[in-house]
Amino acid sequence: MTNPTTLSFASPSAVAADGAAVIFAEEGPKLSPAAQDLDKKTKGRLKDAVKVSGFKGKKGTSVDVLAPQGVKFARILLVGLGKPKDFANDDWVNLGGVVRGKLTGREGDTAHVYLEAAKSELSVEDIAAFALGAQLRGYTFDKYKSKKPTKDADVKVLKKIVIHCADSRAAGRAYKPERAILDGVNLARDLVNEPANILTPAEFASRAKALTKAGVQISVLSETQMKRLGMGALLAVGQGSENTSHMAVMQWKGGGQKGGEPVAIVGKGVTFDTGGISLKPAGGMEDMKGDMGGAACVAGLMLALAERKAKVNAVGVIGLVENMPSGTATRPGDVVEAMSGTTIEVLNTDAEGRMVLADCLWYVQEKYKPRAIINLATLTGAVMVALGKVHAGLFSNNDDLSEQLTAAGLETGEKLWRLPLGPKYDKLIESKVADIKNTGGRWGGSISAAQFLQRFVKPDTPWAHLDIAGTAMAAESTDINRSWGSGFGVRLLDRFIQDNYERR
Ligand code: BES
Ligand code: MN
Ligand code: ZN
Repeated sequence: MTNPTTLSFASPSAVAADGAAVIFAEEGPKLSPAAQDLDKKTKGRLKDAVKVSGFKGKKGTSVDVLAPQGVKFARILLVGLGKPKDFANDDWVNLGGVVRGKLTGREGDTAHVYLEAAKSELSVEDIAAFALGAQLRGYTFDKYKSKKPTKDADVKVLKKIVIHCADSRAAGRAYKPERAILDGVNLARDLVNEPANILTPAEFASRAKALTKAGVQISVLSETQMKRLGMGALLAVGQGSENTSHMAVMQWKGGGQKGGEPVAIVGKGVTFDTGGISLKPAGGMEDMKGDMGGAACVAGLMLALAERKAKVNAVGVIGLVENMPSGTATRPGDVVEAMSGTTIEVLNTDAEGRMVLADCLWYVQEKYKPRAIINLATLTGAVMVALGKVHAGLFSNNDDLSEQLTAAGLETGEKLWRLPLGPKYDKLIESKVADIKNTGGRWGGSISAAQFLQRFVKPDTPWAHLDIAGTAMAAESTDINRSWGSGFGVRLLDRFIQDNYERR
């Protein structure tokens, strides 16, 4: 759901006659000039409240003063910063989320945020990052609640955030690309949260088509077209479902002629993964509505790139299928041929994501000769055993690419941890009857899955695979996200492209 709270920037002295005032203090506590000013206007109420509550300005702490005298604000919220001198860009994003969290449910119509004095030489980028964080935190998925929390009389809803800062016009300009990223992340979250009876492969494709409005070029391949292209691996996954399979190709050509070959982003879009004939156990199976988190990230990223008019050529390819058991489903033991000509023995129909990606990867290389390929997939439960829900798994045939992605992960807080590839792991997927088999046994399950993917990557193409099974869905609460679908990967890859692929 797009959130209804509008965000704007105003000068520090702009009249603020209503709602909540948000002000800051560094560790000490050292009140910001705006906070000092409000303390004076309230005849010392603020400092009294600081004393009574024992507030020291530590990061994440706050003091609330309700109905203060001497000012028109209904509420003053004093937020601790800790040591903002050490803040990186991402700390400002998280601070925005923290502040939004403290406001939600208890706010008036408007929150006036006096950020300008939080740090002496606060950049407009930091202010824009704060704004992004505040808006990211505002995301909720409530489209299936017949009683909208936003209309419920018991809950007060924040309608406006006004960020007061020295150069409000420059801050507004700096926020524009962040706004694009917000839209991209929220699109990815919407897609992941959407139940699988609504978000079928066809419905996903039609939502991808809606990106045309933003300037993305889309084409969708049908089953007949994929059959003609020889995509036997992807089609084998979808053949048990009543819902037909699709492949959507999204192009953003912001780099123009000089931009050269595109960077390719490929996503697993299994709209529901029952496991197929190798049926999954019932407990927790509902989570498999999120098995299209990779594809959701690709769609969200393409939207973000288009909305902020990124100077890059990018192509996104997503394989959209539903993995169901039925009389037409693929059986364990079946042999199928992928578009590349590689034959695959399907030992476990629940190892379907790699089959879908095999044909997506081959297709994008044949058709677009990309400079690099990044694929994202909720590929293995094993990656959660290895890395929990903190890092996504990173596999790559290229050290530079790997370092660039890892760096973007640290900058955005969407962290990656590299895991190995190698001939000894590759051996695990050798088949007796076909070229390869689709499972590599019990140990190192995330690695053998990555080895499988690598069989469909030409050796001179820089390629990275991100296993986002632990980070895309069933997300843990963070400062900037409370939704089940996190939108993981959009901010990461947007930053990766900004840092490494955009023409300046
Ligand atoms: N979609 C699952 C992986 C997954 C599991 C994602 C839990 C998110 C949460 C994938 O298709 C799968 O079933 N993988 C199997 C592979 C196995 C059969 C080799 C797995 O991880 O158990
Ligand atoms: Mn599966
Ligand atoms: Zn799956």
